[in-house]
Amino acid sequence: MTTYITTPIYYVNAMPHLGHAYTTIVADTYSRFRRLCGDDVRFQTGTDEHGEKIVQAAEEQGCSPREYVDRISAAFQETWPLLDVAPDNFIRTTDPEHIRVVQEILQKVHDRGDIYFSQYSGHYCKGCERFLTEKELVDGKCPDHLTVPEEISEQNYFFRMSRYQDQLIEHIRENPEFITPERYRNEVLSFLGEPLEDLCISRPTTRLTWGIPLPFDEKFVTYVWFDALINYLTGIGYPDGPDFAKYWSVAEHVIAKDILKPHAIYWPTMILAMGLTPYKRLHVHGYWNVDETKMSKSIGNVIRPAELVQEYGVDTVRYFLLREMSFGLDSSFSGEAIVGRRNSDLANDLGNLFSRTLAMIGKYAGGRVPAADERSVTDEDRALIDSMEAMVSSYRSSMDSFAFHKGLQEVWEVIGELNRYIVTNAPWELAADPGGKKRLDTVLYFLAESLRLIALVVRPVMPRAADKMAAALGLKEAMVTATLATAGRWGVLEPGTGVTKGPQLFPRLDTGKKQEQKKKSGGGKQKKGQDKKKEKSAATMEGLITFDQFGKVDLRVAEIIAAKKIKKADKLLELTLKAPEERTVVAGIARFYQPEELVGKKVIIVANLKPAKLMGVTSQGMLLAAKDTDEQGQERLVLATVAGDITPGAKVA
Ligand code: MSP
Repeated sequence: MTTYITTPIYYVNAMPHLGHAYTTIVADTYSRFRRLCGDDVRFQTGTDEHGEKIVQAAEEQGCSPREYVDRISAAFQETWPLLDVAPDNFIRTTDPEHIRVVQEILQKVHDRGDIYFSQYSGHYCKGCERFLTEKELVDGKCPDHLTVPEEISEQNYFFRMSRYQDQLIEHIRENPEFITPERYRNEVLSFLGEPLEDLCISRPTTRLTWGIPLPFDEKFVTYVWFDALINYLTGIGYPDGPDFAKYWSVAEHVIAKDILKPHAIYWPTMILAMGLTPYKRLHVHGYWNVDETKMSKSIGNVIRPAELVQEYGVDTVRYFLLREMSFGLDSSFSGEAIVGRRNSDLANDLGNLFSRTLAMIGKYAGGRVPAADERSVTDEDRALIDSMEAMVSSYRSSMDSFAFHKGLQEVWEVIGELNRYIVTNAPWELAADPGGKKRLDTVLYFLAESLRLIALVVRPVMPRAADKMAAALGLKEAMVTATLATAGRWGVLEPGTGVTKGPQLFPRLDTGKKQEQKKKSGGGKQKKGQDKKKEKSAATMEGLITFDQFGKVDLRVAEIIAAKKIKKADKLLELTLKAPEERTVVAGIARFYQPEELVGKKVIIVANLKPAKLMGVTSQGMLLAAKDTDEQGQERLVLATVAGDITPGAKVA
């Protein structure tokens, strides 16, 4: 299969920021994912360098447009490697080849009768670089830039977009995946419910010279979109280069919602007018805010990718952005949120699982992955294989549909299962048991093989961590570069493989220290109102939680109405609770309570815990209990119960 994935080409009137970084990391991750699936992939990004905004920005900097665009375009090109973003092509709209192709296309569309000359007057928004329709104005202002558009009347060239309206509607209806997520497809279809106006595509050279001259009238230059969108063709050698034939039919564009209309309406109609078939898919994501506030230079809360990477490390930044944002919806960035994900998902869940497993293979198996013993494979092990294989398959479909957050969540569910597997199997106890060797070997093999699969699927998101994991697991080069089809199944890791306990994958970030550093470096350009928010998050970071955070835990009284042992798991009991609805909870209390003594007890449970599978039983909550050791060093556990007359399901607060 073949994949062609693009980002928007970014305006050079601003330096790279978090929003640009997100889109580009998404495209990079997708390109790495498709390579993992064995595809021939081409990934393109670039810079958009013509137009009035650029001339203005250059003037403000006291340099020529040419000097200015060279400088900012270089800043974008230098940023991507810092984020481990590796495009195959970086295109600039000032490249001579691009200019030639734009002129060729303009001539072609003109010759077909789809470009005409006409008088125009309308509301021109400088920020959008286009005329806005009456309907788009809110209180006479541009809704995006909150400025009153200029009333301009002039003669210009127009693209006969209206001619392609019906064809476009049909195409969108026939191809449900053409624009995703669905909310944006619906938005476009609803916009197309009204008659389309033709698109003004030129500026007179009396007003703008920093653009591509129209081949049929030198007194005009193209206006931004008819120039910029064509980059997606230029970059693959339109019209007759071999790459064009190979990649155009599979083109996929990633954008944010701000440029939906140009990509979902102008672009496909332009393509239809050229006699080509539209791109394959358009993926539209939401906006990143910062601490719930719009990112803006005047507020001083613009997040720079290079600083992020320096502070948190590239893998953490990539993981955070993809895990935190539900693709399609807006999301909010905060230092607290990224540190939270780093410490819980990466350091605690993945990092600890990895280092504990390697340490145990070192200690109990001489640093070599032992072979699993067929006869000591349990139902829990078989359930683990099923979970791992199910994870690979759902990860694959989530990544393919740009639900990165979901794909990662699925991976982290099995990471949770593996951490519980260590607890229920207690390899240290097996090692202390003279007859436990075979079972111990089996458990260690299952852990190592699961980690190999995890290293494989996290690679598109965190290439560096995947490399470190592969090296520590002793994987040969061929295994590291293998595709999902060959390596994404159970049983590939060879027993006898030597492992090494390398440096920690994700050391915990000392949150207190980070806050301190921030204060020292004066990183507080935020507005006063935001300082308060910061203080609040500082309190959270010192280990205290807010009332709101506590309020998220749903504690309830539950009555135990049945209890039984779980086969082959000597530490677990399966409990049926009334709270007030019936639910099943698996609790690790079998060493402390007999099933029959539990029935009728009123306990306290965490009722809104995400369900988790333990030994094949789905547990829907957790019991609260107190634990300590007696004078002989024996562990003790007592359930938190409530005395008195209280209904099951009552809230504990
Ligand atoms: N030059 C045009 C695009 C032409 S494509 C043929 C342009 N450039 S831009 O520099 O303004 O980039 C817009 C894109 O940057 C968005 O579509 C999105 O990919 C990214 N983002 C900019 N700010 C963003 C956020 N705050 N959040 C998420 N992404 C954002 O429009």
